[in-house]
Amino acid sequence: MDKFSLISQAIERYYESQERVSDELVKAILYSIEGGGKRIRPVLLLTLLEGFGLSMTQCHLDVAAALEMIHTGSLIHDDLPAMDDDDYRRGRLTSHKKFDEATAILAADSLFLDAPSLIVETALPSDVKIQLIQLLSRFSGTFGMVGGQMLDMKGEGKSLNLEQIQAIHANKTGALLTFPFLAAGYIAQQPDGVLDQLKQVGQLVGLAFQIRDDILDVTADFDALGKTPGKDVSAQKSTYPALIGLEQSHELLENSLDQAIAILRGLEMETVFQSQEMIKMIERLRLHAQGKSGCASL
Ligand code: IPE
Ligand code: IPE
Ligand code: MG
Ligand code: MG
Ligand code: MG
Repeated sequence: MDKFSLISQAIERYYESQERVSDELVKAILYSIEGGGKRIRPVLLLTLLEGFGLSMTQCHLDVAAALEMIHTGSLIHDDLPAMDDDDYRRGRLTSHKKFDEATAILAADSLFLDAPSLIVETALPSDVKIQLIQLLSRFSGTFGMVGGQMLDMKGEGKSLNLEQIQAIHANKTGALLTFPFLAAGYIAQQPDGVLDQLKQVGQLVGLAFQIRDDILDVTADFDALGKTPGKDVSAQKSTYPALIGLEQSHELLENSLDQAIAILRGLEMETVFQSQEMIKMIERLRLHAQGKSGCASL
């Protein structure tokens, strides 16, 4: 089975293995999970672990699944009428459109709160589990994704400067994309110097990923995105394309990916890390190969 299906299976297994309190809640959670998505965050984690020479275990899959659960919860909340007010996600109706707002809010709450429990239940060493849960909660909450979402919402309709936009991106998106890099470093028991470099790669990939999302919001269509395009302009969001234009946004995307790849190549020289598969994944985030109006599939 491929990584994508194994991650979905790990999440489904978690919900199917517990005695249910509310069938409707689990149905809403699995609806958003089964909607698909690119699964880039958990696949990055599994690919990095392989790069460190670790073969895939159920523990790794469960940590990857926990990360995808937090991300999916963040998307359910992001789409709510009080936030970005979106009707489509991952090619199907958003949770609050398919069910109702209360169900969508609670499904996301569940995903946030169930994720640490899934990590606790793995057979990883206790000290690694504590590091992973600390990292996931820090990167998801006030000092990461939720903090960034707050800046994003408060930035609507305002003309922010580059530094302010970068702070939004680093937190709302960068933090959860940095998690797989540091988590892989912890699981593979890497020294601080390597962890620092992994963190830098995560931050660069995170920045590139949100710039890419912002570019695609302007240039791609519904079929490619699975969500309504043009939303950032209509909501007057502060994005890189809005501030520096598409051309420079493309350049920044490419530069960030180039820098990330250079650090990974350096890591390969200094450590046991094999960078080839990771670099392939990062290369797929480029948009120029598809032409500036195209949408690269992951
Ligand atoms: C969308 O994330 C939200 C951003 C942080 C840009 P993804 O583009 O990873 O969404 P899915 O998981 O593939 O649906
Ligand atoms: C969302 O960013 C980041 C999250 C924390 C979910 P966007 O609002 O740009 O994501 P999309 O475009 O709706 O997927
Ligand atoms: Mg948003
Ligand atoms: Mg949104
Ligand atoms: Mg977007």
